[in-house]
Amino acid sequence: MKVAIIGCGYVGLPSGVGLAELGNDVICIDQDASRIRDLQQGKIPLYEENLPAMFARNTALGRLRFTTSMQEGVAHAEVVIIAVGTPPHPVTHEADLKFVYAAATELAIHLRGYTVIATKSTVPVATGDSLETLIRAKNPQAKFDVVSLPEFLREGHALYDFLHPDRVVVGTDSAQARKVIQKLYAKFKQDKFIFMQRRSAEVTKYAANSFLALKIHYINEMANFCEKTGADIREVAQGMGADSRIGPAFLQPGPGFGGSCFPKDTLALAFMAQQNNLSLDLVNATIKGNQKRKKELAQRIIQAVQDLGKPRIAVWGLAFKNGTDDCRESPAIEIVQHLVAKKLSVVAYDPQGIPSARHILGPKISYAPSPLAAGQDADVLAVLTEWPSFRTVDLKQLAEVMRGKLIIDMRNILDPAAARQAGFIYQGVGLAALGDTEYNTSPKAKEILDASPHMAAERFPPPPVI
Ligand code: UDX
Repeated sequence: MKVAIIGCGYVGLPSGVGLAELGNDVICIDQDASRIRDLQQGKIPLYEENLPAMFARNTALGRLRFTTSMQEGVAHAEVVIIAVGTPPHPVTHEADLKFVYAAATELAIHLRGYTVIATKSTVPVATGDSLETLIRAKNPQAKFDVVSLPEFLREGHALYDFLHPDRVVVGTDSAQARKVIQKLYAKFKQDKFIFMQRRSAEVTKYAANSFLALKIHYINEMANFCEKTGADIREVAQGMGADSRIGPAFLQPGPGFGGSCFPKDTLALAFMAQQNNLSLDLVNATIKGNQKRKKELAQRIIQAVQDLGKPRIAVWGLAFKNGTDDCRESPAIEIVQHLVAKKLSVVAYDPQGIPSARHILGPKISYAPSPLAAGQDADVLAVLTEWPSFRTVDLKQLAEVMRGKLIIDMRNILDPAAARQAGFIYQGVGLAALGDTEYNTSPKAKEILDASPHMAAERFPPPPVI
């Protein structure tokens, strides 16, 4: 199929590369001329593990191109995918659709033969209806269907998720559009497709993301309960996750969820409910609880250094999660901002996130070239992002360069036994007792830690060559 994707960001670019990998002829459109120039020169503006190789392969095969011209892209396409941002309104948190409507308005006049227009951006319910009206008004002769095609890609695993979807949700009541979408994903088995009404597909995206956010908030609450009751959240998560109705994923406690999706989508869903005179108590509680968690965990660091003269805090991790350079709504960034507000000196390291973090934090903190460099003369180490590579750092070497002996590991990513052997007091989240206990360093604890899903993150197999 000939496809045009509007928007070359964290969703549009991996989706475009994935569609090319599936054998489609893809043109990616973006109004940012410098981004298009970079892409045409093979420079990828975001970090995704397997993207460079697949990008190179498909551009070399001539089935992945980039342009700023909507006309060039749309005239070529049988399917036009809208993958532009829908940022939250700063006050109401309503999804701002200005980029979606601008794209639809511009593409409408270039439509030629029958075209399926698919919204991959996360858009409020009934946006498809408004887009249909808008495009028809702009181009009454055009033959088209507007379809909801929500994406479920996780940053850092975008290509894996694109080529291994649990399902492809398609919102349309047009038989013709169904056939086109099935052709687009011809390499997927038929049972991957879930066809439904367009509005149901629009709700599915918000409902799925908000549920995942709720699941994370729930395990963070259970982590607090474990700390109070002497239980171990790693064992509780293992015991819960073994139930097929719950599943092991998204049961890793941490400093709260971040990223460009969960925070935005939970707020947008709550707003849409309010517009319909409905209060979604669980969604609202998730939003509130997640906000509170970041403050609470920042407080743990502040308390740990409150009696020190001029404390220095080493931070490992700034990106909102491992596997990405993205710092949007990162809990790590927010926690660092709480520390900076208390005039604490922070030195941070992140394998990929420093350039994005610098845009947000600027010179308010220092940036280190390595985990050990960040630890130099630090009184406490706070691990805020779950990069598995942090487990490869020699903690004995870290103990030599640090001034203090406390590690506050908000992702439970380090090995408590290794920390203790290196002379540290290790404080995880949701562990038997905050601080240094026999149990935290037992072989059983290590076995669970090694098996934990986010440790598998580094071992995610690269997507198959289709
Ligand atoms: C999410 C959804 O997973 C994806 O399906 C959707 O398309 C886009 O939004 P993403 O935001 O990229 O993907 O990241 P995700 O892996 O879901 O993590 C979101 C946040 O939750 C991160 O801050 C992560 O650190 C945190 N998280 C995730 C936890 O704290 N614990 C977990 O067990 C999993």
